[in-house]
Order: sequence, then C-alpha cells, then structure tokens
Amino acid sequence: MSDFLTKHHPDSPNGVDDVVRNESGNTAFGEIIESRVSRRAVLKGGFGVAAGSFIGAGLTGCLDLQAAPGAGKHFKLGFAAVPKSTADVLSIPPGYTAQVLFRLGDPLDTSTPEYQNDGSDTAESFAHRAGDHHDGMEYFGLKPNGKGKSMNNAGRGLLCMNHENITEFFLHSAAELAAGYVTTSRVAPQIDKEVNAHGVAVIEVTRNDKSFQINRASGYNRRYTAASEMEIHGPVRGDTLVQTKYSPDGRKTRGTLNNCAHGITPWGTYLTCEENWAGYFKRPASTSLADQARITQNRYIGSGASNGSYGWANPAGGDNSGVDLYNRWNLTPTAGDAASDFRNAANTFGWVVEIDPFAPDTLPRKRTALGRFGHEGAMPAKAVTGKPIVYYMGDDARGEYIYKYVSTRKWNPSDADGGLAAGDKYLDDGKLYVAKFNADGSGVWIELSLANIPASYTAYTFANQADVLTNCRLAADALGATPMDRPEWTGVHPVTGDIYVTLTNNSDRGKTGTTGGGFSRALDPVNPRYYADLKGAANQTGNVNGHIVRMKEAGGDSSALSFQWDIYLFGAQADADGTHVNVSGLTDDNDFSSPDGLWFSHAIPGLMWLQTDDGAYTDITNCMMLAAVPGRLGDGEALAITSKAVPTNGGADQTVPTLVGQKASSTNLRRFLVGPKGCEITGITETPDGRAIFVNIQHPGESTSSATVAADNAAAFQSHWPDGGLARPRSATIVITKDDGGVIGS
Ligand code: FEO
Ligand code: CA
Ligand code: CA
Ligand code: CA
Repeated sequence: MSDFLTKHHPDSPNGVDDVVRNESGNTAFGEIIESRVSRRAVLKGGFGVAAGSFIGAGLTGCLDLQAAPGAGKHFKLGFAAVPKSTADVLSIPPGYTAQVLFRLGDPLDTSTPEYQNDGSDTAESFAHRAGDHHDGMEYFGLKPNGKGKSMNNAGRGLLCMNHENITEFFLHSAAELAAGYVTTSRVAPQIDKEVNAHGVAVIEVTRNDKSFQINRASGYNRRYTAASEMEIHGPVRGDTLVQTKYSPDGRKTRGTLNNCAHGITPWGTYLTCEENWAGYFKRPASTSLADQARITQNRYIGSGASNGSYGWANPAGGDNSGVDLYNRWNLTPTAGDAASDFRNAANTFGWVVEIDPFAPDTLPRKRTALGRFGHEGAMPAKAVTGKPIVYYMGDDARGEYIYKYVSTRKWNPSDADGGLAAGDKYLDDGKLYVAKFNADGSGVWIELSLANIPASYTAYTFANQADVLTNCRLAADALGATPMDRPEWTGVHPVTGDIYVTLTNNSDRGKTGTTGGGFSRALDPVNPRYYADLKGAANQTGNVNGHIVRMKEAGGDSSALSFQWDIYLFGAQADADGTHVNVSGLTDDNDFSSPDGLWFSHAIPGLMWLQTDDGAYTDITNCMMLAAVPGRLGDGEALAITSKAVPTNGGADQTVPTLVGQKASSTNLRRFLVGPKGCEITGITETPDGRAIFVNIQHPGESTSSATVAADNAAAFQSHWPDGGLARPRSATIVITKDDGGVIGS
C-alpha cells in the first residue's frame, strides 16, 4: 500500500525548520521589559559611546573601505534592483550572466555516467556525484599547476560545498514511489542512495574567460557522505557519551549529516556544520529511557517515538549489511551497554566538522570544543596575531541561542598552512560562551563550563565538561542565555568588526498564551515584533519575516566578555505597516522575508550578501538574494515598537523598546537575484578577485507532491529548473559574472 510522505524537510515551506523548539523557562528580558525603559535611557545605554565616532558611516551608508580590486575606495551598489517574481526562472540584473555549474547528480569523475535524473541512477554512483540540497560553500584557490594551495588564484580552485538534505521523491523512480515509501519498511538501496546524497562535495573548478568548468580528472574531487568515516576530536573524544558499537572507544563515527552553513579557518580548511540531524534517527518514546537520556532526548530530539524522517533504521527484512549500516540510525538501547549498540549515535552528530580541502586522504574531524547543537554555521572573527581564534555560531531552532568559541592558543601566522594539525591546535582547546542580551543595548558572553552551572539548576546533572559540550543547550538554559528567533548564519564585518546574525523567523514569538496548543515566547528588546502575515494565513503569526541582530565586542576585542547590540534590519513586505512591521522602511526594490544566508565578501570589504529561506512572502515572490552595504552598530535610533493585538492571539497590544539600525535605502540594500519556484537561496562564495560569485539554488520544486512524482505527472512538477522542459528540478550551483568583467555588485 502506498503511504506517501508528507512534507518534512527541515527547511519546510511553513517556515519552521527546527526539530524541537526550546521550551526552557529562560525569559532573560522579562523583568527588564516591565521596568518600561525610557527612550532616553535606551539611547544613552545602547548608543552613547557609539554615536559620535560612527555617525559619518551611518549617515552615508558608505564605509571607508580598504583598497579592493575594482572596488574603489567607497564601494557602491551599481546594479539595477531585480523585481520580485514567482516565475520558474532565475532572475539577475541586466549586465550579468549566470551559468549552471554543478547540479544534483552531476559526476565528480570521468568514470561515473551522466545523471539520468529519473531515479535510475544507482546508490553507489551517488558517492561520486553531486549530492542534493546544496548549501554553504567556499572557494579555495589552487596553484596554477593544480598542485597545492594558492588562496588568491581566481582561475583555478576547489569548491567545498554542503549537501544539506534531500528531496527524496526526486531521487527515486516513479515506479519505486508508486510501490510505496513508508518509513517503517524501506528498500535498502533507496536508503543507501539517500545517505549518499547527503554530506559534502569537494570539486576542482577552472576558469575559461567568463565561464567555469569542473575538472572531473582532478585528484581533489571527492564526496563525504552520511556514511563516511570521521574522527571525533577535542574534549568529547573518548567520552562515554560518544561510545558506540562502531567505535567502542568513542573516537570515531560514520557520516556527517544535514550540513547547513559552513565556516572557514585562517589555516585554509573548511568547516561544515551539522544542523537538523536530530530528525533522522529512529528513537523510542523518551519516557522509556533513564533520567539523563530522557532529558537530553527531550531537549535535542523530541519526546515521542519516531522511525526517523526517512526510516533509515528500517530496511525491509532487517539490517543484513554485517556492519550495522542501518542499525546505526536506531537510538533504542538494544544491548547491555552503550558500546554494544547505537543509543549514543546521535551524540556523534550536531558538531562543527573540519575538512582539509587539500588533503583528500585525511579523515574529517568533528571539533567538539565548539559544542553540540543545531549548528547553522561557524564564521570567524578576523585572525589577529597573538590573539585567540574566535567563532560565532547560531543554533537554529525556535528560542535557541547564539554561541561564541574562543581558542586557548593565540594565533600565530606561521600556522597559516597548518591544515588539520593547526585545527587540532586552535579548535580542540578553548572556551565556549553563550549570549545573554540586556534591554539597555548591552550583553554578556557566559562561559559554558561545569564550574559555572549554578547549584540551583537541577533539571539535568552534568557529569563533566564533555557532557556540558555535548548537551550545551541544557547548560545554556542553566546559565540564563537569551532565547532568539532562530539564529541562522553569522558574519563578521571585515572593516568594523561588527557581528551580524540572521534570525530567520519565529512562529512562537509574542504570542500571549498557547493558542492552538502552541508555545508562547514573550517579546523582548532583541526579538521585538509580533504580527500576522498580511496574506492572512491563520498559522502565520509571530515574528513572521525575521530580523538581523548586530553586535559589537567591548573594546573591539573578539574575546571580550561583553558587547553592545542593535537590530541592523527587519524583514517585512514593503506594504506592511511601517510603525510595527516594516520598521526598516523596505521598498519594492529590497523587501524580503526570512533572512538566512549572510556572507561578507572577502574581495570587497563591506559588501554583504543576504539570502532568504522563506515560506511567508512566497505568494508574492520566490526566495532571493540581496546585496547590502551595512553601516555600523549605533547608526540608527532607539524605538518603541508596538505590536498590534492579533484576533487569533486574543491578547492586547504589546510595546517593546528596542534599538534599530539605519533604515534601508536603495544605496545600502538592493535585490540582486530571485530564484525559481520552490527554492531556497543559500550558500555563496566568490573567486578571490570578486569577479565571479558562486550561489546555491536549493530544492527548486520542493512543494511538488510525492504522489505527482509517483504518477510520473511531470507537467505538474512545481519547477523544472534548471534543465527545463519536463525535467525533474535539481538543486544546483550557479556562477555569476559581470559582462564587463567587473566585480560583482558594482
Ligand atoms: Fe539549514 Fe537553519 O538552515
Ligand atoms: Ca532548505
Ligand atoms: Ca540556513
Ligand atoms: Ca532556514
């Protein structure tokens, strides 16, 4: 019997990506809101220091930039804004050209056949093809002869990219789907194909005038999948929490999973971040578990029993692989101890994983010092000689936190070519902090250490620091971190040092009860909006369109323990109320919803790219990418936002004082790209000269129903991008160049 899957991709059209929300009682702002901070007091606290020194940059929206090739001293956006669109096409500005470079299934080598895109391509071949759901990525320059690293080479390089998830019904044939797709009994080779379509790809690309080719003969090309062997490194290595039957000593695991955004290191390696891994595992109801396991499952994975999103633990006829290829997705205790089953398998995911693009024979290393959560991405502060290496990281689920890692060792530029050994030095030993925001525009970083857990916190008992890192959501709860509206990408402005974090949306925010059986999270100054989406869908209330918070470390020191914050930008549709929804003054040329990807150009200091993963404004426009030239923290004003009561919420108006950045304008924010139907735009990198950018178009056509694919009703697919005709849609990397050879965005 057929039992078609309903939509369950973690980045789903209803705008809720998370597996479980944070329902801890943290209300860091509650008492401060009640004190009704005055406008004047907020101005003084949040902006007093900043205003005088930053006002010039703020007013002009144009920063004094370091010299960049072709960028000029003051970079100005120079393209015509791209209109919103719901067409099944890729739209870019006049004067630019886009090339489709690397699609789902494209071969990485010369012996793998071309992709058939009808479900007939084998599971094994997927270990040598592009995976699905392209996401974060980075370009690493190669020497002209193709042997070794040369970071500034714009003509030849390695692209490292994440394959976050799958649109499972486009991976299998119509006949296979018609025979049924049930998570209680899967066809083993179909599982293998899905496992192999996840992970990371490394491909060599070469430039020929304005177009790029993949060098399929390159010895660097390779895939890491959800089955590839990896090392567990750092403080959790060898701990009982990561012991499995596969690695009874807790030093290894198989696979990297739900690789969302990425990161880079000053020593030229790639970081890939494991986000919505929790939903993949088969699990028992947590009530059947011992206390500690029950508490951590509830906080990270969910309390109810599940077969896992895709039923990978349930091959028809059981696991006959001899090496537990399927059993390893089952968290149910089945043996006498954790080293004899896979109850701890989920503890080996949720990490930042380091890969050396230039060392194909090394195993990736899971860097446990950076904590375990729904890792979106990990972007560094600028490396300064003699100072620690610092990373900013978001945990993307409703009400989760923003984290910072500070290495113990101080940066020594002689490690710039150190590869994974440098990673061992800087990423295996450091302190992990979580952000607490205050209403006066200040905030503090609280260290997640065993010693800091207050005695009054009795919800969970941490055994040691490895336990704190493995279950750092619970440690952050204990320490009073501020619950945010789904922290996604982070980025550090290369000129100002300001830290930007996208908060994509939060359907819980601002509700005044548990209307409809939901969960409510009070408004606060750093998550200050509540409203109903204009199209009137009953379930789209809360912080519908998301915002971007900005932070500045005390004294400009990335390892500081305190910071200032403001809200750089609010997502909204242009015709929404300007007093409480469209607070940043967006227009038709730059309005957007659900910011997710956020990336600062390396070539053009101060140019920021914003990408959307939206399910709210998609009645008006497909997802998009915008170019921005942000000012500085403190370039705006203190503002009290009154969120109007929404009938379905049954509450009253709520007024929250906050700090907002300079309003958007055509000079500081402009839409550059709109994607095809059903896609998300996520992942961007560039050649080191800024004259070509690579952008990922993720899951076009994902709202197609599996029944439509099973019926082979190609005309009814939501999208046929990029191949056109009646083709199945494919996630893909595109390359964009400017026709006059100039830098992108100029
Ligand atoms: Fe994979 Fe939070 O986006
Ligand atoms: Ca997605
Ligand atoms: Ca994302
Ligand atoms: Ca997202």
